[in-house]
Amino acid sequence: MEIVILPKPEDVLDAGAKIVEDQIRSHPRSVLGLATGGTMEGVYERLIGRRLDFSGVQTFNLDEYVGVGPDDRGSYAAYMRKYLFERVNLKPENCHLLDGTTSDIRAHCQAYEDAIKRAGGIDLQLLGIGHDGHIAFNEPGSSMASRTRLKTLTPDTRKNNAPHFPEGEEVPLHVLTMGIGTILDTRRCVLLAYGKNKSPVIAQAVEGPLTAMCPASALQWHRHCTLIVDEEAAHKLARQDYYKFVYKNKPGS
Ligand code: GLP
Repeated sequence: MEIVILPKPEDVLDAGAKIVEDQIRSHPRSVLGLATGGTMEGVYERLIGRRLDFSGVQTFNLDEYVGVGPDDRGSYAAYMRKYLFERVNLKPENCHLLDGTTSDIRAHCQAYEDAIKRAGGIDLQLLGIGHDGHIAFNEPGSSMASRTRLKTLTPDTRKNNAPHFPEGEEVPLHVLTMGIGTILDTRRCVLLAYGKNKSPVIAQAVEGPLTAMCPASALQWHRHCTLIVDEEAAHKLARQDYYKFVYKNKPGS
């Protein structure tokens, strides 16, 4: 795993957006894996400002709430329209999202996996991280080999995500999410995090054991994962001086 430690949250967002920009400019027909959450808002904002041509790009989102339709304000479909889809020239038929109102969850999740495969696999996956180490909505205990499926959120995750949900509406208990195995199959993934409150989980994910109790630790097993954090999120990493040294001496940079 490549660990990049940058001074400020804005630097993390700039660096994340730059990786996506480079991917689209060098491969205009890229397949992107997209994430939601507060962290990603700044990444999408930056991408919009860079006048990229998304016309050949395909996207697959990580997760969606069960029982929430694409037109509901709390859906990740609505989030994506607001922060990205309505503001760039992505073709609607190229934007893939899980449908939380599907009547056949098993078949729908399998169809999503099949669609990723048909698209040729995900070239670049964006990831945030939950305070409990979740990636997408793979909560602690999720199988490292898991594929897209139904999951139950922890009370903490529901509480943390409540501010992003329309006022007066409860965060659903169940979600559909790509699995950890699905994420490990992506060609490259980039996890972004900033702020002091993410520092314990960043330390666990990077320097702790590979364990289902911290789903993000599975990324230690990913073939090409870059983790970009600010100084605050990095401050519990025991080997931060080494990571900075490696980054400073990165060949070709
Ligand atoms: C949600 C998403 C995750 C994301 C997390 C982090 O739970 N399902 O994919 O990683 O939010 O959110 P934030 O960036 O707001 O900390």
